[in-house]
Amino acid sequence: MAPVTRNIGLSLGADICWPLCFEGIMRKLDLHVRHKGDTVSFNVERVSIEPFNLRQDVKYDVVVDRLTHWYHTSREWIKKGVLMDGLYVFNNPWSVQSMEKHTSYAAMMALGMPIPETWMVPPKAYTPEQVDVRATLRQYARLFDLGKVGEQVGYPHFMKPYDGGGWRAVSRVADEKSLRANYEKSGTQVMHLQAAVHPFDRFVRMVGFGPQSHAVLYDPDAPLHDRYTMKREEEFLTPKERQLLEDTLLTINTFFGWEFNSCESLRGADGTWYPIDFANPCPDSQVTSLHYHFPWLVKSYLRWSIYCATTQRKMRKTLDWEPYYEVAATDRSYEEKLAEYGRIARKRLEADKFEEFCQKHLSHLDEVAWEFFGTQEAKDAVRKKVAALFPAHEVEQFTELFWKRIQHWRAEQKA
Ligand SMILES: Nc1ncnc2c1ncn2[C@@H]1O[C@H](COP(=O)(O)OP(=O)(O)O)[C@@H](O)[C@H]1O
Ligand SMILES: [Mg+2]
Repeated sequence: MAPVTRNIGLSLGADICWPLCFEGIMRKLDLHVRHKGDTVSFNVERVSIEPFNLRQDVKYDVVVDRLTHWYHTSREWIKKGVLMDGLYVFNNPWSVQSMEKHTSYAAMMALGMPIPETWMVPPKAYTPEQVDVRATLRQYARLFDLGKVGEQVGYPHFMKPYDGGGWRAVSRVADEKSLRANYEKSGTQVMHLQAAVHPFDRFVRMVGFGPQSHAVLYDPDAPLHDRYTMKREEEFLTPKERQLLEDTLLTINTFFGWEFNSCESLRGADGTWYPIDFANPCPDSQVTSLHYHFPWLVKSYLRWSIYCATTQRKMRKTLDWEPYYEVAATDRSYEEKLAEYGRIARKRLEADKFEEFCQKHLSHLDEVAWEFFGTQEAKDAVRKKVAALFPAHEVEQFTELFWKRIQHWRAEQKA
């Protein structure tokens, strides 16, 4: 048995709470995984930002990345690592960079998903530095009647940036007057108008990590710290609905090469689940929004990282969409197609092998994590995140609130 060490790098920005818990639990797990004649242990490090030679080795086997979507030096270092050094990273940096909301809508419409009617409109304003703008618009831009587009989308609808995230510039449009007012304000942003799922009686955010998924009942009208409700999946989803939402999520994720992502779907009056926002490949991982669900997230980060690092799973460098389009082209019902996409997804994510691996090597993770989330170390991690986000006079109160919710999770788990 040769002892080997696999290096897991955390490429981080403002994340505080989950990495501290990830590192703490990893230490307590003290893993020595027997894999193909080796005994594998793990070294977790935070990736630093510094000049690099393109030909210099990358020491990491797996990098968990939270920077690619906005910090380009790290993104380009990761790309070089994938291309030259066999690095495994989630998420695929090329895909994160180029697949915004609009692409994700178009691709999933092509696969038959019930995305609400969505239009794109040219922007209200242009930046003066774009030298060819005048000539281009004068020749080719058709004058259009925004009111007519609004009518075709229907009211109410949502105006939101085609590459949006974090509720930036999202507005609910009730009538033509408010459509025109919002368009005036939209400036240089390229906007979608999307029919509202209205009314809806369930709003679910599915979070995915490799083949793992978790459903959260979401309350968009609540303040940030209460949007993730503490309901358990079986309280708001039938097993059939859960399967549908998981297949939807895993289809999206494997199509785009995203190993962690979240998908928001609303259940409309006709009982259909409409996905509305699912290009979130650096999903919210903060205890300040996830609280009760935070331990699930940390455990999922750990399981998938440990699995990929141990088995030296090969990173899928290109996306290969053809198998999905082949299924889409058949005359099966959407339900049957979705089940088939789900099968492709689980195969790509080695779902069966992963489950077996977790049973064999990580069966103590649940207990170790349960213990960890009762320690001062975990509470300090929560407090640090709260202190980074809340005004000083609220730190104590919100640390206690989130901590209480995690303890509620522990009590439930124990029962
Ligand atoms: N088609 C829609 N129907 C109903 N609500 C919507 C729709 N689109 C957006 N919303 C509401 O607006 C919020 C933000 O829009 P979303 O598409 O999720 O953008 P972001 O990527 O910025 O989170 C959603 O959480 C939801 O509450
Ligand atoms: Mg959203």
